[in-house]
Amino acid sequence: MPVDDFSSNPTDNRPFADVLHARMSRRSMMAGSLATAAVAFFGQSGIAHAAKGGQKGPNLPKPKQGGLLGFTPAANPGGPVPTISPDYRYDVLIPWGSPLQPGGPDIDGGRPGSEGEALQQIGIGHDGMWFLPINGSNEHGLLCINHEFGTNGHVLGKGFPTSIDDVRISQAVHGNSVVEIRRVNGAWQTVPSGYSRRITPNTPVVFDGPVAGHPLLDSVLGNAPMGTVNNCANGSTPWGTYLTCEENFNGYFGASGDYATEARDRYGFSSGGFGYGWHVYDERWDLTKNPNEEHRFGWIVEIDPMNPDAAPLKHTALGRVKHEGFAFATGRGGRAVGYMGDDQADDYIYKFVSSGNWKSMRARGINPLSDGKLYVARFNDDGTGDWLELTIGDPVLAARFDDQAEVLTFARIAADLLGATPMDRPEWTSVAPNGDVFCTLTNNSGRATPNAANPQAPNPDGHIIKWRDAQNHVGTTFEWDIFLLASDSRSSSGSADDYVFTDPDGLWCDPDGRVFIQTDGGQPGGRNNQMLVADSYTGEIRRIFAGVDSDEITGIAVTPDRRTMFVNTQHPGDGDPAASNFPVELDPADPNGPIPRDCTFVITRRDGGIIGS
Ligand code: FEO
Ligand code: CA
Ligand code: CA
Repeated sequence: MPVDDFSSNPTDNRPFADVLHARMSRRSMMAGSLATAAVAFFGQSGIAHAAKGGQKGPNLPKPKQGGLLGFTPAANPGGPVPTISPDYRYDVLIPWGSPLQPGGPDIDGGRPGSEGEALQQIGIGHDGMWFLPINGSNEHGLLCINHEFGTNGHVLGKGFPTSIDDVRISQAVHGNSVVEIRRVNGAWQTVPSGYSRRITPNTPVVFDGPVAGHPLLDSVLGNAPMGTVNNCANGSTPWGTYLTCEENFNGYFGASGDYATEARDRYGFSSGGFGYGWHVYDERWDLTKNPNEEHRFGWIVEIDPMNPDAAPLKHTALGRVKHEGFAFATGRGGRAVGYMGDDQADDYIYKFVSSGNWKSMRARGINPLSDGKLYVARFNDDGTGDWLELTIGDPVLAARFDDQAEVLTFARIAADLLGATPMDRPEWTSVAPNGDVFCTLTNNSGRATPNAANPQAPNPDGHIIKWRDAQNHVGTTFEWDIFLLASDSRSSSGSADDYVFTDPDGLWCDPDGRVFIQTDGGQPGGRNNQMLVADSYTGEIRRIFAGVDSDEITGIAVTPDRRTMFVNTQHPGDGDPAASNFPVELDPADPNGPIPRDCTFVITRRDGGIIGS
């Protein structure tokens, strides 16, 4: 969504005196050692290069002769249908409004007729996603998927709701789906399931961590804690649960009267929100009438897919920001570690470290994500970095907040005070098998002043940064590099056949050393949003897939054998049936054709090989 392409950060956290000089020396230093930090294009081959050396860990398999990318790159001509490498194929699964259970109601190119109908269907705004195999199967499992957003125009066919019924439909297409899928005669499909369920902004939820039970979460209207919204990227845990991340929760609130506070300003609240109009018919979302309700959003939420009766669990120990994702790692001492982006221009990157070994915490009945330390990143210009703890024990924070619950609920303000480094919209994070952590910084066209970690001002195309923490993820220092600057693909490339990309967003490091990169933004030359694969040994990048006109490519999940990959198109045609009828082929002569539907693509290699090879 473009809604984060402005800054709400009032601070002047610019820790570098001479950032331009720092940037130049940093980049030239990297060129000779860890990374080139440049994307170079090799003429007609359409092969791009990024920083090398991302996967030098001791436990990695040796790269194959000739590198990790064995596929013919996909073209990207733009237009109403996806393109894929000729070595691969895609199939469409679970479009928005298709039945959660076989035989259920289907919008069938229309729109949901009621809340009750929508609750029996896959939601809209397909985003972060995870495949949980059943009994380790590569052909049977639970797909957990986020439904980030759907505009009123797309979902209701009008710009603003005119009744509470409209609002309930809008709410019912948001949230998450857990859907049981199976490969039958070579084709993936939904199957009858006791696990399949929808979670929406009206589903009962529970809180844990330091903010649970705090007056900040008390409802003035007396409503119980309910729901999750604007679920963007995701994470998963080694104990078999799904983590869904609440990003632009602010946009679903509005105000019928006074509402402005410093904290609400910092989190981007406004009287009209993003125009959903929920607050007009459902006062739960009215900042004036129901203060504190907004403190119940902006969290990372744990869903247990195998336990359909378990309420989603909101982890306040992970802080309240516009959470993009959660990249899990097991750190030194068996601690649960998670890396998180806060996606707004000039906002920050966070890390959580559990208080103990996650297995022993679970054995004692303690959720590992309920108790630990939360840090925010400061990137120093010499390639080092520091994790600054958000704790009420810090005198700077104690002077501003009363307790740890306030620190976590207003994590952005706490991070401002600690002097964290404002980043160019931190989106997805992913941990490579050697311990390197990658983070997409999608763009920041409003950046006026560069810093070493965000070296371009303005930065309309985005970049990817990587770092390695001390002490196997639990240390408070790290070393970082720029992995690539997307603008280098633009400046190095001239023809329509070149592999230009901007606005990196979705990200996944596979166990072999590949880095999958998904884009969300206007791609140069009329191209569609796309998925690329980088070989972090050689720095080579190839396009494997490109989406549909005006969509975004997001969400990435694989079966255990990595021979099936699930990827999403979000808002194809921007919901306009005159622009796209996807997955039905566009009929330009019929402006009243089927309404385009967000979908999951099932991607397989034609020879049955590992995806990305
Ligand atoms: Fe929902 Fe920051 O993308
Ligand atoms: Ca995103
Ligand atoms: Ca994005």
